[in-house]
Amino acid sequence: MHSLIIFASGTGTNTRAIIDYFKRNAIAKVALIVCNKPDAGVLDIAMNEEIPFLIVDKKTIHETLIIDQMESCKPSLVVLAGFLWKIPDSIIKAFPNKIINIHPALLPLHGGKGMYGHHVHNAVINAKQQESGITIHHVNEVYDSGDIILQARCKVLENDTPASLAERIHHLEHFYFPRVIEFLLGTPTVSIDV
Ligand code: GAR
Repeated sequence: MHSLIIFASGTGTNTRAIIDYFKRNAIAKVALIVCNKPDAGVLDIAMNEEIPFLIVDKKTIHETLIIDQMESCKPSLVVLAGFLWKIPDSIIKAFPNKIINIHPALLPLHGGKGMYGHHVHNAVINAKQQESGITIHHVNEVYDSGDIILQARCKVLENDTPASLAERIHHLEHFYFPRVIEFLLGTPTVSIDV
C-alpha cells in the first residue's frame, strides 16, 4: 500500500477526490494532511476520515520536525492540492522527485507567486484567453516551474466568471489528479495520455 501526504490550504475538494478514488482502488492511502490554515475545510475532511493532520504556522514552522513527521509516513508521493505557500527548499531536498503540484491554469501562463485559486481565473479572463485548464507538475525550488506531467484543457466561455471557470477547472482536477497519482505510483488501471 502506497502512502501519500497531502499539503492543502483550502476547501479540499481535490483532497476529497483523491481520498475517494483510492478508497475504490486500494493501492494508496492518505497518511497525513499538512495544512497552514486552522479553519480550512480540508481539516474537516481529515477529521471525518480520521487522517492524521499537521497544522503549520509560518512564524513557528520547524522544518526538521515536519520532515521527520513526513518521513515517518514513508510517502511514495507528496501531493500539493491547493497549498498556498512555497514549499521550503529543505522539504524539497528531503523528498527528491516525490513532490507534485496542481495548478489551475496552463503553465507557464498565469503561474508564480500570488497566483492561486480565483486570482488565476481572474487573470485568465482578463487576458481574454480562449482556453484554460490544469497543469500537474513536479515541484522544484522555483514556483510553478517544475517538469510538467500532464495538462488538460477546457474552453473559457464569453460570459465566464472566475467562479464558473473554477467549477469547470475543478471537474478536470478531480478527474485527472487521482489518475496521475496512480500513474506515478506505477500501477495504472486506466491508460491515460500524458
Ligand atoms: C485548486 O483549484 C488548485 O488547482 C489550486 O487551488 C485549488 C484548491 O481547491 N491551486 C493553486 O492555485 C496553486 N497555485 P480545493 O481546496 O477545492 O482542492
